[in-house]
Amino acid sequence: MNKEILKEVILSNEDYINKNVDRVVEREGIILPDLLKKVVIFYGVRRSGKTFILFNLFEKHKNNSVYVDFEDDRLQGFKLKDFENLKEALLELKPELIGKKIVFLFDEVQNVNGWEKFCRRVIERENATVFVSGSSSKIMPYEINTALRGRSWNMEVFPFSFREHLRTKNIDPDKKNILYSTEKFIVKKYFLEYLNWGGFPEVSFAKSEFEKQKLLKEYLDAMFFKDLVERYEITNVQLLETLLDKLFSSFSTRISLTSFYKQYKDKFPFSKDLLFRYYKHILESMLVFEVKKFSESIYKRTRNPAKIYLVDIGLAKGLTSKDTGRRLENLVFLELKRKGYEVFYFEDKKECDFIAVKDGKFFPIQVTYELNKKNTDREMGGMTKACKLLDQKKGIIITYDEEESTKINDISIDIIPIWKWIVKKR
Ligand SMILES: Nc1ncnc2c1ncn2[C@@H]1O[C@H](COP(=O)(O)OP(=O)(O)OP(=O)(O)O)[C@@H](O)[C@H]1O
Ligand SMILES: [Mg+2]
Repeated sequence: MNKEILKEVILSNEDYINKNVDRVVEREGIILPDLLKKVVIFYGVRRSGKTFILFNLFEKHKNNSVYVDFEDDRLQGFKLKDFENLKEALLELKPELIGKKIVFLFDEVQNVNGWEKFCRRVIERENATVFVSGSSSKIMPYEINTALRGRSWNMEVFPFSFREHLRTKNIDPDKKNILYSTEKFIVKKYFLEYLNWGGFPEVSFAKSEFEKQKLLKEYLDAMFFKDLVERYEITNVQLLETLLDKLFSSFSTRISLTSFYKQYKDKFPFSKDLLFRYYKHILESMLVFEVKKFSESIYKRTRNPAKIYLVDIGLAKGLTSKDTGRRLENLVFLELKRKGYEVFYFEDKKECDFIAVKDGKFFPIQVTYELNKKNTDREMGGMTKACKLLDQKKGIIITYDEEESTKINDISIDIIPIWKWIVKKR
């Protein structure tokens, strides 16, 4: 690869980031390895903001970083050995960097076969820092080439959290009194928007509902054709479409592929194997997550039907008001994932929506739109049962807008409005 072309690419990217990326919302929950020699990999669903995380890092390390996007048409034919040319091109442009620490930012890096080898070498031998990202599932932890085993630091990128969504409105979620007096009405207004449209960054910024809808429709099409049909060479498009439709309308509920099979097998031709395979691809594409039943034994865990949640609530189908409780539940799930919890559901005659697990501690959580005569006993019952079994003295119930503290036997239960819970700092 010609070094002059590489120089042109380096400079034009620098220019582009400096001129065009002026409003970057600071992402939360990005924990970087401290002094560890790791290749940091940002992976996650399309349009979630991975490239912008690299742009942001570029701005933070302006003097010694280089950003390259391997989807750039000028880089067609870039091979593993060209990384060395790239480094030389950079040093020719900026001789002051010779012998200094360089921060490499590589976007869509999966396009270069063997990229792991170069990255590994420069972090180990040259004291460089490497951040990479890509949209394709080829960059997910389980696909990463063995050359990087033990040398990668994987960070899953989700669409904006509610706190980040507030920042797109120029509201500081840590501002004093944000949850009180008049400020609280503004927070609640934007929460309603977030509940309906989710947190894909561009959707968060979009002003009109028309624009938000249009963006989400484009995302869905690209995810369907690019991330699924093309990537996995899907042949039975009707099956994929029907399954995805089913999943996007079944968020926060249990899904049984066996009943799906029974329901559709006479409507169009497909095999059970194919159905299971497509389901697996959808999980791999990070559009949908599974939550398993809490159980001491891994074996039992895998046999129980999983509950499913979407990577963004803007993708959900079903917009009637009676779905609001399920939407809240999906948001709570995503927030727990963002905060690094492992998540299960609990069921032992009674149910508790989530058992969140972190550092060996258990946090039972129920989510319901409201507590009323019909559901209070059930919600409290599931909560106390989960608490007892896990030997916990505290649980929380997240509702749309109710607040109270109560005690059942020796278990204290905090009822919290979601907009308060979700605005809290991690
Ligand atoms: N932190 C941010 N601050 C401001 N805007 C953002 C931020 N992150 C993303 N965006 C907006 O969302 C768009 C999509 O983000 P980005 O290109 O970073 O996503 P991506 O995950 O790299 O997507 P793809 O998988 O398609 O490459 C950006 O063009 C920008 O408009
Ligand atoms: Mg990108």
